[in-house]
Amino acid sequence: MVIDPPKFKTLIPGFDELIRNGGIPEGSSILVEGGPGSGKTIFCIQLAYNACKQGKKVLFMSFEEPEERLRSHMKNFGFDTEKYEKKGLLLIKRFNALDIARSVEALLSEAKRELLIEIQPVLIPKSFDPDIVCIDSLSAIASAFSGEESRFRIYMEQLFRYLESHKITSFLVRETANPTHIGAVYVEHGEAVSFLADGIICLYNVIYKNGERGRALEILKLRGADIITKIVKMDITRRGLKVYPHITLKGEYKLT
Ligand SMILES: Nc1ncnc2c1ncn2[C@@H]1O[C@H](COP(=O)(O)OP(=O)(O)OP(=O)(O)O)[C@@H](O)[C@H]1O
Ligand SMILES: [Mg+2]
Repeated sequence: MVIDPPKFKTLIPGFDELIRNGGIPEGSSILVEGGPGSGKTIFCIQLAYNACKQGKKVLFMSFEEPEERLRSHMKNFGFDTEKYEKKGLLLIKRFNALDIARSVEALLSEAKRELLIEIQPVLIPKSFDPDIVCIDSLSAIASAFSGEESRFRIYMEQLFRYLESHKITSFLVRETANPTHIGAVYVEHGEAVSFLADGIICLYNVIYKNGERGRALEILKLRGADIITKIVKMDITRRGLKVYPHITLKGEYKLT
């Protein structure tokens, strides 16, 4: 008998309903993709907070916003992070992408053989053993490796392997200038991570023909889960993201 892995529920209103068997298989690596301001960071802080509520240990790695800004961002949505930080369930930590690129460089020259890099010292604090990791964002890390794309790829492979072997459910933010999965041409710039990831969640800025704007979300893929594949309406409210799993977009619109 095959036993289904336990499922992680984001508890983001409406989101989990897009997955028929109830949630994201634990241990999955999920890309959270979208254009500027599409809600990627809020998606992550909200699920991070909700995971703590469920007693999970969460590491939030920020490459973009300083810790204090993230905390106040969370507070604005009514997420009391302090409580979970004190309990040791939540660790918000800011990283410098250039430091990571430099350490990888150093490890590679020390190891001589590129496959020998050990990701642990470079990224995940040793003393914290998280169930969930959010990385905001891979794009920031990628830009620190500019001109060294093969190194970035090695680093990504190691990172995915590490997360998998430690059974960590991870949410990895990726900024996209345009939706990469829509249209005739598939474009991925130097970050072949779509194939490494178990799941892809796309957040969209929507522009309607009449000039109005809206937001939408789609689960593009999720290994080991039966997903509802459609682009549905989403809002950002004072309490965070809200997904409308039964409302598809109407009229003429463009996704950006
Ligand atoms: N309290 C709020 N109520 C409604 N909308 C909000 C609120 N706070 C933030 N927003 C909206 O959320 C959007 C930003 O979301 P978020 O920071 O998650 O985007 P992002 O995809 O991470 O962007 P970036 O690529 O710039 O990092 C803003 O464009 C803003 O319009
Ligand atoms: Mg962001």
